Order: sequence, then structure tokens, then C-alpha cells
Amino acid sequence: MPTLHILDHPLLQHKISIMRDKNTGAKDFRELVNEVAMLMTYEATRDLPLREVTVETPIAVAKTKIIAGRKVAFVPIMRAGLGMLDGANALVPAAKVGHIGICRTKDNNGSECYYCKLPFDINERDVVVLDLMLATGMSAIGALEKIYESGAKTVKFVCVAASPEGVKAVQDAYPDVEIYTGALDAGLNEEQYITPGLGDGGDRIYGTK
Ligand code: URA
Repeated sequence: MPTLHILDHPLLQHKISIMRDKNTGAKDFRELVNEVAMLMTYEATRDLPLREVTVETPIAVAKTKIIAGRKVAFVPIMRAGLGMLDGANALVPAAKVGHIGICRTKDNNGSECYYCKLPFDINERDVVVLDLMLATGMSAIGALEKIYESGAKTVKFVCVAASPEGVKAVQDAYPDVEIYTGALDAGLNEEQYITPGLGDGGDRIYGTK
């Protein structure tokens, strides 16, 4: 069942509004990307299974719960998704990390993968793909193709902002992938940027424009 989760936590919405502001500089933008990634990871890991354990508190014996050994892999899509990694990793420090580099083809009609290094045991992990924007969906679909080819079974896609076009493209191609976004915007402009969006995520994180 393909699911789109639009995360409406007030802290997340507040931080995304500051990110949208064109006057927010690279340093603040980068910090906000990590804070937002952390909040989104919290939501995207809500269904991790738990098992009961017994621990001794300073007062008494407690029956309590810990994560039941399911393992996570984060896969940021370069370059903007890389900006989300530290925030996501802060919540799940034991997660392994894969990297995927996707760029547009010369004719602009598709995407090609220029770099892919994924954990060898990705088939045993819950994979969380990180990208700042889900715009046309081409990068996401290119990355998901590689991730499934490598044997992954459970995959979630986490992005700060999405377009309806991108969501539909991913849902059509990979109906099992749950999408988590902080904003579902109006659509794409003629340059395929999300509108109103955040601008070019990579440039805003790395200050390259
Ligand atoms: N990539 C971006 O960085 N921004 C968009 O709006 C779309 C794709």
C-alpha cells in the first residue's frame, strides 16, 4: 500500500518556513537541514519493532523495551541528500550509510547514476533514502532502482519538500516505498524546480550560488 506521510509537526513546519526564506544563509540553512532530517527520521522510524527487556533501575526491576535488532541503512542522494545525513545519523548512530550520485542525462529526459556504494547487507536493513527535494522523481527513481537491484526489501524515502508530480512518479514506479515529506508543494515550474519550494537545495546547503 503506497503511503505518503506529510509530516505536520509544528517544529518541522517552523524550520521549513525558515529554510524557504531566500534570506536564510548557507550556515543556517545547513543547520536547519540537519534539524529537519532528525525530526523526519524520528517519524520515519516510528514502526521499528521493539522487544521487552528487564533492567534494574536504581529503585527497582523494570520491564522495558528496546529496538528489536532491526537494522537501518541511510542512503543520501548526492548532493543535497548528503546535507541530511548527520541529522538522521544522530538518531540512529548504528545505521550503515550508502551513497548514490544521480545526475540528469545530457538530453535532460532521464537520470543516470555516476556513483553507487551501498552496504553489503542492505537486504537485512530498513533502508531510508534521504533527499532534500522530490521534484520530478527522476533522481529518486534512479536511486531506488539501484537500491532494489542491490537486494533491499524495505525502503522509505524521506524528503523535506515534494511536488505532486514527483510523488506520483515514485508511487507509480515503486508502490511499496513509503514517502515522508515535510511539505507537499504546488508543483514544478518550467525549470523543474519545486514551487514555491526552497530553491536549489545543493546550492543553498553548500553556498555554491
Ligand atoms: N532540486 C532542488 O534542489 N530544488 C528543486 O526545487 C528541485 C530539484
